[in-house]
Amino acid sequence: MFEKQVYNNRRTKLKATMKSGIALFLGNKEASFNYSANEYTFRQDSSFLYLFGIKLADFVGVIDFDEGKDYIFANDMDIADIIWMGHLPTIKEQAAQVGVEHSGSLADLEVFVKKSIALGRKIHFLPPYRATTFVQLSNLLGIKYASVKNYVSQELIQNMVKLRSIKEVIEIEEIEKALETAYEMHVTAMKMAKPGVKEQQIVGKMEGIASAAGGPVSFPIILTINGQTLHNHYHGNFLKEGRMLVADAGAETENNYCSDITRTVPVGGKFNDRQKAIYEIVLEANLEAAKIMKPNIFYKDVHLHAAKVITTRLKELGLMKGNVDEAVANGAHALFFPHGLGHMMGLDVHDMESYGENFVGYNHEIQRSTQFGTAYLRLGRRLETGFVVTNEPGIYFIPALIDKWKNEKINTEFINFELVENYKDFGGIRIEDDILITADGAKVLGKPIPKTIEEVEKIMNE
Ligand code: GLY
Ligand code: MN
Repeated sequence: MFEKQVYNNRRTKLKATMKSGIALFLGNKEASFNYSANEYTFRQDSSFLYLFGIKLADFVGVIDFDEGKDYIFANDMDIADIIWMGHLPTIKEQAAQVGVEHSGSLADLEVFVKKSIALGRKIHFLPPYRATTFVQLSNLLGIKYASVKNYVSQELIQNMVKLRSIKEVIEIEEIEKALETAYEMHVTAMKMAKPGVKEQQIVGKMEGIASAAGGPVSFPIILTINGQTLHNHYHGNFLKEGRMLVADAGAETENNYCSDITRTVPVGGKFNDRQKAIYEIVLEANLEAAKIMKPNIFYKDVHLHAAKVITTRLKELGLMKGNVDEAVANGAHALFFPHGLGHMMGLDVHDMESYGENFVGYNHEIQRSTQFGTAYLRLGRRLETGFVVTNEPGIYFIPALIDKWKNEKINTEFINFELVENYKDFGGIRIEDDILITADGAKVLGKPIPKTIEEVEKIMNE
């Protein structure tokens, strides 16, 4: 938890942007794993964390925009809780730690909300993403479970996006800490990437590093010799010479800030010529994208710039053909690069995604594309100083997608399908960094993790 001033400032800023009414910020409840008393590791809701900082289950924060007051509602521990979980400060004491003067029980919350409804006050809340939160909102507000989504506050979403998009200095420091852990995780994976090692053994070590550093992983680790499957969570393969190992993984700090890094390395520590050629293209796309990131540029244009680098170089290899600009305009690059260049990152690894991707990544100036590939771009709007975003181009050879495009004659004027056929056993390559947008450009955050061919081969053979 940060100093209470941090949370006070954030709530004050939010109050300055909201017209009237009250806002409910429902913290998460415990979630059961296989029976009710056996729970998943608790993860607090990020909006609650951002404004109220407390990492305990079943807390609700309320801000009254008309009165300018903040509240925390939760139940004090009873003797059974104390026996099983130990003694904690009272709710009043915990509220004071984050600068909140008013507190009460969950029964008090019900009375507070019912009274606000009776007075016809506007009640704002953010989109829920867990069933238990839907139920809690449904009960508190007296609306049907199925219609809860219809009542979310777009005004609150937009103002929270404005606030959370611009990272404070302490948030950047947290992300750098999460990156220190990611450095250890990825360098460990590189050193372990030898033929005969099972993917799960590497995943286990990486999870252990994240846990030992204070937080869990920031999302389930993607680590695979079948990197052509973008989010591959199967870890049952044994590493084989000739395959590339994609590792996409990050950690959370104790304050729940994330890192999200991808490195791709040749099993055994030596790139062959075919791997080198494709790797150099992805690396160039990553470096070129970082070079042009700066305030005011549309992130979609950075994405398309990376797509053009990839198309230009794949054309030189003979895998693509035709005019590069036309190929990218037609989405032909998406056969190889079918996802977006990146996303916002912060308290969530895909920051604020629970608010709705389009609220975070798009606005009145720019709408989401419907074209295959670019449609997956989570962030399209102009970058601003203080944004933290990922930069994660990739090239993949996805046999099912290649067959589909070939059979349906999609973008045949830009793809050399005959040659692409030879790459169906290649797998995929992705390289991802976390980037801070600065006043005059962009900065790759964290201690540099081996990325060039020379750096990767060196660390793998130490
Ligand atoms: N690191 C996984 C993702 O960005 O989707
Ligand atoms: Mn990512």
